[in-house]
Amino acid sequence: MRTLRGALVGYGFIAERGHAPAYLSPDADATDHGARFEITAVADPVPARRALAQRQIPGVRVYEDHRAMLDAEAGALDFVDVATPPSEHAAIAHDALDAGLHVLCEKPLTPTVAEARSLLDHAARAGRVLFPSHNYKHAPVVREVRRMLDAGLIGEVGLVTLHTFRSTHAKGVPEFRPDWRRERRWAGGGIAMDHGSHTFYLAFDWLKGPPRAVSARAWNLGRWDTEDNLACSVSFDRGVATAHLTWTAGVRKVIYTLQGSHGAIRVEDDDIELSVKSPSGDGWETTRTRVSSHWMDASHTAWFRALQQRFADAVLRGDTRNEEALEALRCVELINAAYTSAEARGREVSLGAMAAP
Ligand SMILES: NC(=O)c1ccc[n+]([C@@H]2O[C@H](COP(=O)([O-])OP(=O)(O)OC[C@H]3O[C@@H](n4cnc5c(N)ncnc54)[C@H](O)[C@@H]3O)[C@@H](O)[C@H]2O)c1
Repeated sequence: MRTLRGALVGYGFIAERGHAPAYLSPDADATDHGARFEITAVADPVPARRALAQRQIPGVRVYEDHRAMLDAEAGALDFVDVATPPSEHAAIAHDALDAGLHVLCEKPLTPTVAEARSLLDHAARAGRVLFPSHNYKHAPVVREVRRMLDAGLIGEVGLVTLHTFRSTHAKGVPEFRPDWRRERRWAGGGIAMDHGSHTFYLAFDWLKGPPRAVSARAWNLGRWDTEDNLACSVSFDRGVATAHLTWTAGVRKVIYTLQGSHGAIRVEDDDIELSVKSPSGDGWETTRTRVSSHWMDASHTAWFRALQQRFADAVLRGDTRNEEALEALRCVELINAAYTSAEARGREVSLGAMAAP
């Protein structure tokens, strides 16, 4: 069994609570292609975060800067996992690719389209895997939706609605800048930049294709320089997605609906309601199931286990043009197009036909 030796860059909330426990968990020992993970190095500028990494990961070497880490660890790493605020993702990922390493990168891949394109180009030139942390697709309830769609239970999907309710922005660790998600300099935007990727890659999957155009409105009800609410309609060849993302909700919840040619699926956190046209054609038969997905636990450790395994599979297959990297670029393009639309009070913005780099 091959061992993939990795370094975590950024040892904040999600690295400590999501990525590291998933790498260290026994379940992560086997991937489809037979790889196990070993986290040998961590880079973070904050001493308290490095000290925590040393306590949490046996034998790990720590550095205050990712470049010093890449120099010192030359020849001893296979990949870098980037878990810093988004403004730092591109520079760290480029340096890792330059060092000949594969890159797993948190969402959003980058705040700007130019940075995202440049990373995909770089990975293709370097022959290395660039893979985004699109972990919501590994939530058990989302996998169950995929199973229902594959079984044809609701027919062709033509409309999806995706509502993400949060009562505040997620806070980063106190030793760094807990409110960086509200600061344009670090986050590149507000809730759409922070959470839009999860919303949009699910919509791409459910509507089977890339987005064609978006019309959006954004609001900032708070005191920061980024939006805390974004509503948008996105056109696809096969239908339409509407989404509302908010940090000013009364409750933490996701509600997704998928409307198909002969039925519908409604997801509310762990609950799935399936409605299918009755054979007589005069109504709908509804069944309700519960698929425990731990939505309230923002670290999503179990979802990361599955994601890390897909990343390892891509590395071992040499799949340097993986669909997920293109999906990440499409998310960044759609988020930025939504901002352009919102600045023009909802004018529709087309998304160019995107060629794979
Ligand atoms: N996929 C998910 O479900 C999910 C959930 C939470 C966060 N995230 C993403 O993870 C990333 C980090 O979020 P977080 O909540 O862990 O933030 P955080 O503030 O808790 O942690 C960020 C860490 O990065 C470190 N850091 C800052 N600049 C750095 C640099 N240049 N080099 C190395 N380290 C640096 C900080 O010291 C801090 O320890 C973001 O991209 C965020 O969007 C994803």
